Amino acid sequence: MSETIKAPKGLAGVIVDTTEISKVIPELSKLIYRGYLVDELVEKCDSDQVAYLMLHGELPTDHQLAHFVSKEKEYRSISDGLLKSIKLYPKKAHPMDILQTAISYLGMEDDRLWDDDHDTNYDKFLRMYAAIPTIIAAGYRHSIGEDFITPDPSLSRAANFFNMCFGEVPADGIVKAFDVSLILYAEHSFNASTFTTRVITSTTSDMYSAIAGGVGALKGPLHGGANEQVMYMLQEVGSPDQAKAWMEDKLAKKAKVMGFGHRVYRKGDSRVPAMKKAMHDVAELTGQKDWAKISDILEKTMVDAKGIHPNLDFPAGPAYYMMGFPIDLFTPIFVISRISGWAAHVMEQRANNRIIRPLSEYVGHELREI
Ligand code: CMC
Repeated sequence: MSETIKAPKGLAGVIVDTTEISKVIPELSKLIYRGYLVDELVEKCDSDQVAYLMLHGELPTDHQLAHFVSKEKEYRSISDGLLKSIKLYPKKAHPMDILQTAISYLGMEDDRLWDDDHDTNYDKFLRMYAAIPTIIAAGYRHSIGEDFITPDPSLSRAANFFNMCFGEVPADGIVKAFDVSLILYAEHSFNASTFTTRVITSTTSDMYSAIAGGVGALKGPLHGGANEQVMYMLQEVGSPDQAKAWMEDKLAKKAKVMGFGHRVYRKGDSRVPAMKKAMHDVAELTGQKDWAKISDILEKTMVDAKGIHPNLDFPAGPAYYMMGFPIDLFTPIFVISRISGWAAHVMEQRANNRIIRPLSEYVGHELREI
């Protein structure tokens, strides 16, 4: 056993392993996926290309992309058994809990559950990449008492998700903004949910269990769940003329404001400018400009007063709302994207594994007798 080191609370500032998947550069407020600046990927690629990049380490050729997309389309359907089981979940269930349970169900259906060679794990990733939007849409349709809409292979993954939820695809600009969010949410180094997937993988548990664990970690409001909390907050603010006073009141009370702050970034989240632009585009296209105005005022008031910048969840929340999604679907949408980052980390951990097993410092009772 090596010498013991006492890590700071929350493992802040601790490097726990190496990765080739992404790099956060806090001093420049930049993010790199596999060597490419995310801002450039947003400009030049779609979310399928970025998902391929995440898993393969290289951007796809046209032929590779066509094969990837055709596999994704082939795997979109979910079994009758899973569909029936989703209908049996409590109607009040949060969609993240539905999704987590349904991912475990996908694992139970897979005869290769314990096969962990690279190709099988990659195929499991493709299966989840394709089925997760279908699961989320099925849960949503059930929650509103509407029939399930089967996946449409003539549509892109993003457009198909809108169609499965609402029975129609919105204007191209809306689908584009959604796709931008999928690129930005895809990967972010050793955040809590990604680390969770790596911890689970390190025990040589199966890939479905690792991803289901990631969903559980992402759900928390300090992590992915913040995008939902941001929208509840904007609803509480209500209108642009209330926004400055609302934020000043929260700051005076030293309250935590959702969608602000980050463990790694101090000068601003690299992903915010692109998502803010996408959110403003959606506000223009849908004519719901007040949400964008409230959001701008809250941001300015917070940055001026405390120097604390918004994170990606801050513009993503209102963008999804203006696209028509119910608030409790926002964090599941994060999963539609993050599945590719998680899967890449599962594969990387598996390829060079040592069980992740830290120590704790016991501060409980001294030895005593019953
Ligand atoms: N509102 C008000 N003050 C804040 C906030 C906030 N959202 N975030 C940080 N601070 C203050 C905090 O009070 C502390 O001040 P002081 O030094 O005076 O005590 C200082 O900034 C440092 O904060 P911290 O809590 O030590 O930061 P952390 O690295 O432990 O936590 C965080 C990071 C993201 C959990 C935290 O900023 C937070 O809770 N933010 C709100 C939830 C949120 O938006 N989460 C999304 C995270 S990013 C995307 C994602 O994962 O989905």
